[in-house]
Amino acid sequence: MYNDAEIFELERDRIFARSWVFLAHESEIPSPGDYVVRRIVDDSFIVSRGEDGQVRVMFNMCLHRGMQVCRAEIGNASHFRCPYHGWSYKNDGSLIGLPFHADAYGGEKGFPKKGKTLLPAPSVDSYRGLVFASLDENAPPLRDYLGDFAYYLDFYANQSPAGIELRGPQRWRIKANWKIGAENFCGDSYHTPQTHTSVVEVGLFGEPKASKRKEGALYFAGRGGGTTYKLPRDLSFEEGMRYVGYPDEMIETTRTTWSSEHRDLIGKDGFMVSAATLFPNLSFVHNWPQINGDGLVRPFISLRQWQPVSESETEVLSWFAVDAGAPESYKEESYKAYLMCFGSSGMFEQDDVENWVSITSTAKGTMGHRLRLNSRMGLTLDGDLVSQEPASFSGPGTAYVGYGEHNQRQWLSIWSDYLEHGGHALHGEPTGTAARGGH
Ligand code: FES
Ligand SMILES: [Fe+2]
Repeated sequence: MYNDAEIFELERDRIFARSWVFLAHESEIPSPGDYVVRRIVDDSFIVSRGEDGQVRVMFNMCLHRGMQVCRAEIGNASHFRCPYHGWSYKNDGSLIGLPFHADAYGGEKGFPKKGKTLLPAPSVDSYRGLVFASLDENAPPLRDYLGDFAYYLDFYANQSPAGIELRGPQRWRIKANWKIGAENFCGDSYHTPQTHTSVVEVGLFGEPKASKRKEGALYFAGRGGGTTYKLPRDLSFEEGMRYVGYPDEMIETTRTTWSSEHRDLIGKDGFMVSAATLFPNLSFVHNWPQINGDGLVRPFISLRQWQPVSESETEVLSWFAVDAGAPESYKEESYKAYLMCFGSSGMFEQDDVENWVSITSTAKGTMGHRLRLNSRMGLTLDGDLVSQEPASFSGPGTAYVGYGEHNQRQWLSIWSDYLEHGGHALHGEPTGTAARGGH
């Protein structure tokens, strides 16, 4: 599954042509005319804010002979003019300019421009400013697709009424299958003490020690799941937030923004969210490294997308995200924390990718196609639970404490349901054998 052209074709047709795929955050295009160009596998889209303030997602392919209309990645434009023959479109997608219209087409009578637009994305929806598109015009509403994962999403994307703002993305390509990062972020707390040993040794992040990681809970709800760290004993909500480096003024805003179920996950249950993945390819990070020699700890949030290029290559998009209402000094410190851990300069990032590239190249061979990987962590051979359910857990979905591949199994169960049933069986909870602990 990590390096197979046939499986990749199926994923393109049955996952990426049907599920909701993240494109951009509204904060990336705040003003009329702002746009970014993003992809769903091979399909390029312009995500643009029109003069009316509305965000639209348009297929970036000229109605004439199919040239990519907008070739810049980010900018501000009232119009897009096709580089090939010069057809031009308003930033709401409508065709308004056609060179030699009368001579070439017989004018408006011969070929009316009126009513012609760049193809809109079949379905567009947003949650907390995160704009998603689906190539399936019958996609369920995004909120239904997210299911109870929306509760967890709010830890990352809704810390204050101002919402979050994104910077970036940094983009780079890795010779690794897109699923490995998605699986890792949704539940692999087991790799942290081994892969990221040096991060602890240099004093960047104090938490990945084996004992700390196994005390965290793994949660899965709706279309996504993630990992948490156990906070030191008996901290209140405010103390838990302070422990990971939030300044008091932000804590007060967050306290009134989040529901009591959100606050209780931290204050009552003692868990702080860390990495997560929303199916198929959007991941989140929340870590709190030490950013200077005086021991100043600051948290950061990163969004990242595993954009498939082929079965053996992935384009990574990595954004820094921060509460838009946070003080400027905090934003700078949090940005520094992000750059030290993730993004193209981050230590965690480089540790992880070394593994994923190696898995992908090893999976390519004949023997690599024969080996059945082990995905049973947290269960005995008889299917009994090794991990425990947390004593108290205020979030929805399933939660387990201890090392386990519960989340990866659930994620893979959704994956296999899409491949087998094209996603149509999937408007409820995942049903595949992997979710129930099958091989
Ligand atoms: S292909 Fe765009 S104007 Fe001809
Ligand atoms: Fe990692």
